[in-house]
Amino acid sequence: MDRIVVTGNGPLKGQIPIAGAKNACLTLMPATLLSEEPLTLTNAPRLSDIATMTQLLQSLGTEVTKMQDGKVLALSSYRIDNHTADYDIVRKMRASILVLGPMLARDGHAVVSLPGGCAIGARPVDLHLKAMEAMGAEMELRDGYVHAKAPGGLKGGVVDFPFVSVGATENALMAATLAKGTTVIKNAAREPEIVDLAQCLRRMGAQIDGEGTSEITIQGVDRLGGATHPVVVDRIELGTYMLAPAISGGEVELLGGRIELIGAFCEKLDAAGISVSETGNGLSVARKNGRVRAVDVKTEPFPGFPTDLQAQMMALLCTAEGVSVLEEQIFENRFMHAPELQRMGAKIEVHGGSATVTGVDRLKGAPVMATDLRASVSLILAGLAAEGETVVNRVYHLDRGYERVEEKLSAVGAKIERVSDR
Ligand code: UD1
Repeated sequence: MDRIVVTGNGPLKGQIPIAGAKNACLTLMPATLLSEEPLTLTNAPRLSDIATMTQLLQSLGTEVTKMQDGKVLALSSYRIDNHTADYDIVRKMRASILVLGPMLARDGHAVVSLPGGCAIGARPVDLHLKAMEAMGAEMELRDGYVHAKAPGGLKGGVVDFPFVSVGATENALMAATLAKGTTVIKNAAREPEIVDLAQCLRRMGAQIDGEGTSEITIQGVDRLGGATHPVVVDRIELGTYMLAPAISGGEVELLGGRIELIGAFCEKLDAAGISVSETGNGLSVARKNGRVRAVDVKTEPFPGFPTDLQAQMMALLCTAEGVSVLEEQIFENRFMHAPELQRMGAKIEVHGGSATVTGVDRLKGAPVMATDLRASVSLILAGLAAEGETVVNRVYHLDRGYERVEEKLSAVGAKIERVSDR
C-alpha cells in the first residue's frame, strides 16, 4: 500500500495547475444516461472516483472512451442495457446514487443499491427518493436496493427540499429534464457543480432556469441530444493548494483558479493574514510576513465555507497565533483528522460538531493515518509545516480526489514523495 512522505522544507514558489472538479465530473458523467447521443466531457480529472463511475456506467451499458490520457471522456449510452446499479460498485462511492434520476427519467425504471454501510444512517438518500416521488415515481426499498418505477414516465412537480443537498438537487435536476411539464426545485443547492451540470444539460437541449439560485425551474423536453462540455475547475483542489503557501510560506499561483468559486474561503484566508490576488491565469496566494492569525470557521452550503475544506483549514490553524473554533454543520463525525493532527503536536479539542484549535509554534512530523479523502490531504498540508518527516499511510483515500498530489507539490519546492511497498 502506498504512503506519502512529506518533510517540512520552507517557503514554496511556482505554479500549480488546477484540474477539473471531481464532484462536477461525477454528476456530469451520469447525464449521459439521459440521451442516446454521445456526451463528451473535456477537462476531466484523472482520479479513482472517476474510474469507479466509469465502471458503474459501463455496467449499465454505456460505452466510455478515454482520450488525451483520460482528460477527455467520450460517453455513449445509445441504450441502457441494464437498469440495476449493483451493490459491489455503489458501495465504493456514494455518488453512484446519481444514476437513479437519469435512468428513471429516460426509461421509467431503475434499481439502485443503497450506498454502502450508511443506508439510512449517517448519510441517507431520503431526499433523492422524495424528489423522484414528487415527480410521480413509485419507490420501494427492498433487500438493500431502491426499486423505482414511473410507468408512464416522470411528471413535472414541485420538489421542495427541507434542507440543502447537493446530490439530491443534481438527481432531481437531471430527472426533471425529461419529465412531462414543469418542475420547480425549491431550496436547491447553489454549488458551482450544480451550475456546471445545468450548463451541460442545456447544451444537450434541456430547458432550465435559475441554476445557482435556490429555485430552479425545468421545463421537460421529449429528448436530449449530444454535447461537448468542459468540466468546471475543482474549487476544493484549488482551496487545498491555496493552503500550501499559506502553511509553508512563499507564493504560489493556482492556474485556472477563480475567486467566485471560493469567495467565503478567500475571506477567511484574508482574515488569517494570507493574501490572495487575481492574476491573468488564476489566483496567487502569498504568506510573506509573520504568523497566521486564528480565525473562526463555520461550514455551510455554497456560497458559505465548504465542508470539503474544513480539514485542510484546520491544518493551517494548528500553527496560527491564538484560538480558532471550527464548526462543522454539514456532516457529523467529520473531525477524524483531529486525532491525527494531535499526533503531530496540534492542540485540538473536539466537542460534538465543533473543534477548538489552539495554535502551536511548530508541528512535528509523525506517522499518521488517512481516514478519508479531505482528512488525508490535510495531513499532507500539516506535514509541509512540520519539523521532520511525516508519513501519511492509507493514501488510497487521497487518490480518490487528488491527481498527482506529490508531483504538483514537488513542482513548487515541497519535499514530498510517494513510497510504494510493492
Ligand atoms: C456532495 C459532495 C461532497 C460534499 C457535500 C457537501 C459530491 C460527489 N460530493 O455530497 O464532497 O462534502 O456535497 O458539500 O458531489 N442528506 C440527507 N439525505 C439525503 C441527502 C443528504 O440527510 O438524501 C444529508 C447528508 O447526510 C448531509 C447533508 O444532507 O448531512 C448534505 O449532504 P449532500 O449535500 O447531499 O452531500 P452529497 O451530495 O452526498
